[in-house]
Amino acid sequence: MLGMNVTKVESRIPGFYNLTLAERLGELVRRGAISEADSRILSGAAGLTPEHADHMVENAAGVFALPLGIAMNFVVNGRDVLVPMVIEEPSVVAGASFMARLARAGGGFTAHTTPPEMIGQIQVLDVPDPAAARLAILERQDELLAEVDVIDPVLKHLGGGARRLEVRLVDSSPVGPFLVVHIIYDVRDAMGANAVNTAAERLAPRLQAISGGRAHLRILSNLSDRRLARARCTIRLADLGIEDFSPEQVRDGIVAAWAFAAVDPYRAATHNKGIMNGVDAVVIATGNDWRAVEAGAHAYAARSGRYTSLSTWECSRQGDLVGTLEMPLAVGIVGGSTRVHPAAGACLRLMGIQSANQLAEVIVSVGLAQNLAALRALATEGIQRGHMSLHARQVAIAAGAQGEQIDRLAQQLVQQNSVRIDRAQEILEQWRQT
Ligand code: MEV
Repeated sequence: MLGMNVTKVESRIPGFYNLTLAERLGELVRRGAISEADSRILSGAAGLTPEHADHMVENAAGVFALPLGIAMNFVVNGRDVLVPMVIEEPSVVAGASFMARLARAGGGFTAHTTPPEMIGQIQVLDVPDPAAARLAILERQDELLAEVDVIDPVLKHLGGGARRLEVRLVDSSPVGPFLVVHIIYDVRDAMGANAVNTAAERLAPRLQAISGGRAHLRILSNLSDRRLARARCTIRLADLGIEDFSPEQVRDGIVAAWAFAAVDPYRAATHNKGIMNGVDAVVIATGNDWRAVEAGAHAYAARSGRYTSLSTWECSRQGDLVGTLEMPLAVGIVGGSTRVHPAAGACLRLMGIQSANQLAEVIVSVGLAQNLAALRALATEGIQRGHMSLHARQVAIAAGAQGEQIDRLAQQLVQQNSVRIDRAQEILEQWRQT
């Protein structure tokens, strides 16, 4: 089912932006990027229904839609990929597409992932001799692993399963010392929460018996730092100039902007938020748990004890701009809403995704592109100029503009330098009276 679109579809579609909504989907079908059926799903006509929602959450009352845009120009590990992004914020899809175009000229994104290993935690309280209990648990590691390895035979068959145990002794806490046992579980193409939580619960009574303590919490950790995704890209110096800024100024401005995030948590939070604009948009489009990814990203950013940037930007030996991003990415392509939400399936097929690791490689690349889009704007003309014209369209719609009025009103608001809903309503009222 996910096999579609492994044939090469170029991610560079000049003029895509200027097409109408229907023409864009038609173009994707014509190029073989999506099927007719998926084009109906992506358009919203055949997407998530209230009936689906009723099976997903309690007290379902309906569904809530968000815009879905397609980022162009991405090349990840030599493969063109059209990237679906679900996001309400203007400028994000355009920013990612433009930066992917610059990266494309420098060879695209090179991304890789560590094995999809998740961590399940078991807290063991009231252990009489914690140091000895720690070793007793480790001595029986093989036996304990064998017990949880059989939890999911399908996962096992696909090469996943229990990998190892880690036992930490917490010397002091508000409730005194305790043990923390980590079960490291390879979840292959799943996000893995179910398998890992089951494993943690299954191990708990055995750990109690071995340690003489009391197993308390049994839950996965969202700091999935064994499941990392990494991407890097090179932006050629010659491609960096903009209007009043030389390529060197833009490059050095981006490096200085990154340096700010590297040393200052106040800036790092915003810098990483920009990365997550790209990451979350694809995580959501593929039906994955964006809260888990967010939690993991920020915890990872603080792993040294001081919250810092998830990315780096440097000047290469040749004088080009080089960016990297490393972050935990617990995403799956099987199970959960990745399979229930019709649009999630369509988005995975659009990208031609074959494994959870491959999905993570695309997502981390989008995060890096998005980070670059923000830094490039901030280091030069600021983000408001580009932002305002898109924001003005939203203000125009909110004020009640329809059809061709939307662009006309938005333009007028930007020209008058007053992108405000009260002004938009005033102008609309004037138009109605004339
Ligand atoms: C806005 O959604 C994201 C930015 O604030 C990110 C950044 O400052 O790097 C522009």
